[in-house]
Amino acid sequence: MPLPTDQKLIALSEDLLKQIDAMQGLHHGFRPFHARGIMLSGSFTPSPDAVSMTRAPHISRASTPVTVRFSSSTGHPLIPDNDPSANPRALAIRFHLAERVHTDIISHSTDGFPTRTGQEFLEFLRAAASSDSSKPSPLDKFFSSHPRALAFVQTPKPAPSSFARETYFGVTAMRFVNRDGVGRYGRYRITPDAGTEHLDADTARSKGANFLYDELTARIAKGPIGFQILVQVANPGDITDDATVHWPEDRPLINLGKLSLTNAVPDNAHEQKNIIFDPIPRVDGIEPSGDPLLEVRAAVYLLSGRRRRQAPEQ
Ligand code: HEM
Repeated sequence: MPLPTDQKLIALSEDLLKQIDAMQGLHHGFRPFHARGIMLSGSFTPSPDAVSMTRAPHISRASTPVTVRFSSSTGHPLIPDNDPSANPRALAIRFHLAERVHTDIISHSTDGFPTRTGQEFLEFLRAAASSDSSKPSPLDKFFSSHPRALAFVQTPKPAPSSFARETYFGVTAMRFVNRDGVGRYGRYRITPDAGTEHLDADTARSKGANFLYDELTARIAKGPIGFQILVQVANPGDITDDATVHWPEDRPLINLGKLSLTNAVPDNAHEQKNIIFDPIPRVDGIEPSGDPLLEVRAAVYLLSGRRRRQAPEQ
């Protein structure tokens, strides 16, 4: 994946990375957000309904190998699992289509995002970093002009009882195109076969610092972990280029297929360091929507991922 040539986009991406580093601290060899994680491998099997949505290659094959990375929020590589700021949790999925050919899904466990654009996200981070006890603080001022950012921050983000018992949301819409050329906008929603289960705040706090990663390692040793990859389909007229806007729950969910995770990836830390997930699908049959977050995230993740790969092995 090449870096974009748009100088404004590169400058914004560099400013975002600099601001995130300033707030999270620089941990060489780790991601500035979602630093703590674990990778598993398995396969994806499409459902019979999937062809109605997309002609993407992994939908027309019987099965496609996948690598996934579960992660905790923040840039702290050792953030304890019982720390509330480790929420939302996340799931990134890579579908291996051929040698060095892939498409990804990046999702987290809150259905939304605080800002519509990368520039607004930068302003949000700067306001948060410069906030003090003054009233109104820079963050108060930001929230008063960006009520959806406040709504995101106030959305409950409970810890799951297991990474395998959380629902993950793709947040940015994609345009799914089927064999007849019919295009529909949709958002990924990845649901656990074991059912979603959250902990109340006291129970979560009482757990150990590694309870989620230990639980996942023990669970995968006993057998496959299953998820369904669904797409919430927009109605005509729904806003499709704004990650801060939710679609009503009555929008249909189409099942794209099943994820079956079977193994922990060998040499896990090295593989996590190496893989750079891409928010833009770059595959026939799944196109980016007009959501402005996509381009800037693709550039930021690439800048950050290349820097991570250059850091010496721990
Ligand atoms: C302008 C908006 C955003 C910025 C600046 C941003 C920034 C970042 C950065 C710097 C990383 C580390 C990437 C790497 O080093 O490989 C990251 C990872 C991640 N972000 Fe974002 N992000 C944004 C929006 C979002 C949204 C909307 C989601 C919702 C799903 C999201 C979910 C994730 C996840 C799951 C990861 C970890 C992926 C992995 O396991 O490699 N981010 N983000």
